[in-house]
Amino acid sequence: MLPGDKSISHRAAMIAALAAGSSRIRNFSTSDDCAATLSCLQQLGIAVERDNNEVAIHGAGVDGLRELAAALDCRNSGTTMRLLAGILSGQNFTSTLTGDKSLRQRPMQRIIEPLQMMGASIMSHDGRAPLTIQGRKPLQAIDYELLVASAQVKSCILFAGLSADGRTEVIENEVTRDHTERMLRWFDVPIETGSAEREGVNARFAAVRGPVQFKARDVSIPGDVSSAAYFIAAAALLPGSSLEVKDVGVNPTRTSFLERLRALGLDVAVTGSREEGNEPIGVVSVRGVDSPRAEGDPGAPFILDGLMIPQLIDELPLLAVVGSQTEGGIEIRDAAELRIKESDRIATTALNLRAMGAKVGEFDDGLRVNGRTRLRGAKIDPRGDHRIAMAFAVAALLAEGETKIEDAKCVAVSFPEFFELLESVAER
Ligand code: S3P
Repeated sequence: MLPGDKSISHRAAMIAALAAGSSRIRNFSTSDDCAATLSCLQQLGIAVERDNNEVAIHGAGVDGLRELAAALDCRNSGTTMRLLAGILSGQNFTSTLTGDKSLRQRPMQRIIEPLQMMGASIMSHDGRAPLTIQGRKPLQAIDYELLVASAQVKSCILFAGLSADGRTEVIENEVTRDHTERMLRWFDVPIETGSAEREGVNARFAAVRGPVQFKARDVSIPGDVSSAAYFIAAAALLPGSSLEVKDVGVNPTRTSFLERLRALGLDVAVTGSREEGNEPIGVVSVRGVDSPRAEGDPGAPFILDGLMIPQLIDELPLLAVVGSQTEGGIEIRDAAELRIKESDRIATTALNLRAMGAKVGEFDDGLRVNGRTRLRGAKIDPRGDHRIAMAFAVAALLAEGETKIEDAKCVAVSFPEFFELLESVAER
């Protein structure tokens, strides 16, 4: 079975911790990132029981977190750090958030600025973690337009808004994943969402009114479509294969990847959508095709750019690998955010694709990968980045000869069972 969605599991755990009473979370993500979230919540005084992928969270209410002297270690998890920063800004105590070397290099100014506008006082190392947050109760409500298209920043502000005095609104000019909005609604927290008319831009808003109290609720987490993506791409590119992924989250803010695969000429279909915990769940069916032909001019690279990028962000390294096999190749632009993920994903993707014999052009904000490449086995250095390791495991299946992925255990950041599952699927 596909492990639970990482993004949704973080939110379920944090919201359940702020609820009054006990919530049971089924199919909780097995990722190291979500384990980091649970461990931080426990250190903040929340009782957590875990039996494999079933987690019980004994929420303490919005005022129930406990101050601690030690720093909270978010390990490799940007979502843990940025979302918890929103919650901790609304507490009457001081706390410190830190993480591993990669996380301590990632930009935090994007959350520091709005949280300071709301009245929290935050000390950082030049906009990077460790972050020392002196919270305030109540925070001041704000209207905030996102400067970067980031669901983590949006969620951070909405979480802070739960302990602000009045209505906090976040406006996004580019659509990002909406799991926080959906999970708050599942817990019966009043939240307004809609489109915000703004000079021809298709903007959206989400708003909460604080301070708010709410009750515990059980929730089931859909399978992680970003984890399934590696299996879907591999099956789609290996002629003769077929794959069915059941109970997978098909939230439209996360499935652009599937649409892009179809546009690249691959045989991918989504059926049977139902809802659980306010999230759509479906079945993805895939068949491997020979010589995929992308929409548009077959000789030209298939372009990924503009507004579609935030909804494809985690799958872009994998799409670069896919593009190495399609007729005209692929060009990714407007994706400078990739440089500040768990690794510089533009550099790590280019480095490893070249090692396998692909022709790759690198831009500040993206990549161009030539198509129809016969990849050859190589030594892959994912630089500790789980999504790079998994994207290149897919490349390895397409390549001639042996590929060795260094430090492959880094996949545990999002998907500890990845290689085991790959082996079991490949055998059938
Ligand atoms: C995430 C949002 C994305 C994504 C990350 C998880 C989330 O980051 O890359 O893997 O759970 O909100 P940004 O929101 O910073 O783009």
